[in-house]
Amino acid sequence: MKLTNSYTRIFIFICMSFVTLFAQNNLFNIVYPQDNKLHTELTLNVVIEAHSQNFDTLKIVTPIEQINIDLNNDKSIYCKGISLKLGENRITVRSYKNKKFISEKIKHVYVSSQLSHQYKYPPIKYKNSYFHNDKNEAKCLRCHDMSVNEVKDVAFKDITKSNCYKCHKNITKEKYGHAPAVNWLCTECHNIKSKDKSKYGITESISKSCFHCHKENKELWDASRYRHEPLDSGHCNKCHNSHSSPYEMFLRKPVNEICMGCHKDKHAKALPTKNSKCGFNDKKQCTDCHTPHATNRPFLLKEVLNKVKK
Ligand code: HEC
Ligand code: HEC
Ligand code: HEC
Ligand code: HEC
Ligand code: HEC
Ligand code: HEC
Ligand code: HEC
Repeated sequence: MKLTNSYTRIFIFICMSFVTLFAQNNLFNIVYPQDNKLHTELTLNVVIEAHSQNFDTLKIVTPIEQINIDLNNDKSIYCKGISLKLGENRITVRSYKNKKFISEKIKHVYVSSQLSHQYKYPPIKYKNSYFHNDKNEAKCLRCHDMSVNEVKDVAFKDITKSNCYKCHKNITKEKYGHAPAVNWLCTECHNIKSKDKSKYGITESISKSCFHCHKENKELWDASRYRHEPLDSGHCNKCHNSHSSPYEMFLRKPVNEICMGCHKDKHAKALPTKNSKCGFNDKKQCTDCHTPHATNRPFLLKEVLNKVKK
């Protein structure tokens, strides 16, 4: 009898904890991002739905920043652009009342990079996912204009007037910006609509979208005898960020780091070693001698061998 009693008590206790846990977890909801998103940019949007009067502050904690949001009784949706690092990012949202912690929710996002062995192969739980379909956009329509308002080939006089700007302004914030992106002509490249993916997809062969404008490069490179593999296979974006970057030519990293990124990897030839005749030394840039794109000279050399100073 006593035994059953304590079982009942434990049972009731467990039920009660679930009820409180459940209630607390329902205090707010992370509308975006969904868990285990695979990403390529270092910026991301976070959208939180918070109805409750049970707390007064939300805190977004990421590996690189902490953002405090003071709640406002008239609002139920809170949107923030955040920055990420390469690899795994844990995004924790915590709620507080009078500085006392109440509850938290966590989402995981992985930013992959083709230029580093460490971040090239994300754990399998991470999946590509897309935001721009009617179902997701419906959650924003009440307050945001989700339509495209760009006119083909006409740059915005005031870029803040682009409907895309409000949510994506961080994507062009770096020092070196690519012309179509900094003029907010996003659909010059994001022009593939698909039902199960995104309204703003991009052709599978990225170079096709680049050559749409860079026609002279295409002619020159097509006519060359040797073409660099990542270019030939359509992956301009492995080296260039199409939007903006801290490095000239919107390269994803400084030149030598870009080249090392792959040539240390077993999939490409090993880094030039002491035994190879490659003239690399620490004071030189790989592109002093090699072209990243295409050439008529072997080993992607810019000049004839005997003219290369060693
Ligand atoms: C020159 C072509 C080009 C233009 C112009 C362009 N993009 Fe992109 N965008 C790309 C490519 C290529 C990718 C695929 C990601 C990569 O580079 O690996 C991409 C990816 C993205 C992503 C997804 C990032 C991720 O990891 O899921 C977002 C968001 C995005 N672009 C927004 C924009 C916005 C907003 C604009 C307008 C300001 C824009 N893009 C203009 C080429 C372009
Ligand atoms: C209840 C109205 C409302 C809804 C619904 C809403 N937003 Fe917002 N959003 C705003 C307002 C107002 C701003 C600008 C003021 C601010 O920064 O809080 C904003 C700003 C943003 C920003 C810019 C934040 C920053 O850090 O600059 C992003 C990104 C954003 N919203 C995304 C979304 C997405 C995605 C959805 C749908 C899932 C959505 N919003 C739904 C009202 C809303
Ligand atoms: C209300 C906010 C909002 C507006 C307005 C908005 N986006 Fe997005 N967009 C998002 C969110 C959230 C994502 C998910 C990725 C992220 O957080 O960076 C996204 C992702 C994307 C992607 C990656 C593919 C996908 O579907 O996930 C592209 C490309 C993109 N947006 C282009 C655009 C363009 C072009 C416009 C203007 C016509 C636009 N966006 C307007 C919120 C917005
Ligand atoms: C809508 C047209 C358009 C598309 C599509 C486009 N670009 Fe550009 N790009 C430009 C313009 C305009 C410039 C600036 C003028 C110039 O220097 O050629 C530019 C400049 C560049 C530069 C710097 C050139 C320099 O000398 O400073 C690079 C690198 C570049 N683009 C790469 C790309 C890549 C990679 C893609 C595909 C992901 C791409 N572009 C797609 C229009 C485009
Ligand atoms: C292996 C890395 C890599 C790949 C892949 C790559 N680029 Fe480049 N790109 C560079 C570097 C590095 C520069 C800087 C110029 C230099 O030092 O020669 C550059 C410069 C440029 C320039 C300006 C200079 C010029 O030669 O006109 C354009 C335009 C350009 N790239 C477009 C593209 C396009 C389009 C593709 C895809 C078809 C592409 N790139 C693929 C690394 C790359
Ligand atoms: C995205 C990966 C990637 C990047 C970044 C990259 N390469 Fe390559 N590279 C390759 C692959 C793959 C090959 C073809 C396989 C091979 O011959 O090793 C290649 C071939 C080469 C070759 C020709 C080797 C030969 O035997 O003919 C040279 C030279 C070269 N790359 C130099 C560079 C330089 C310089 C850079 C930086 C501007 C660079 N690579 C950046 C992947 C890359
Ligand atoms: C001073 C000029 C010079 C510089 C700087 C240089 N290279 Fe080379 N590289 C050469 C020459 C010349 C060859 C051809 C050697 C031969 O004839 O075997 C070569 C060959 C190569 C090869 C193919 C053969 C091998 O050794 O694997 C690769 C890959 C390569 N270089 C990558 C790079 C990378 C990556 C950098 C920058 C870290 C770089 N090179 C910097 C001149 C240079």
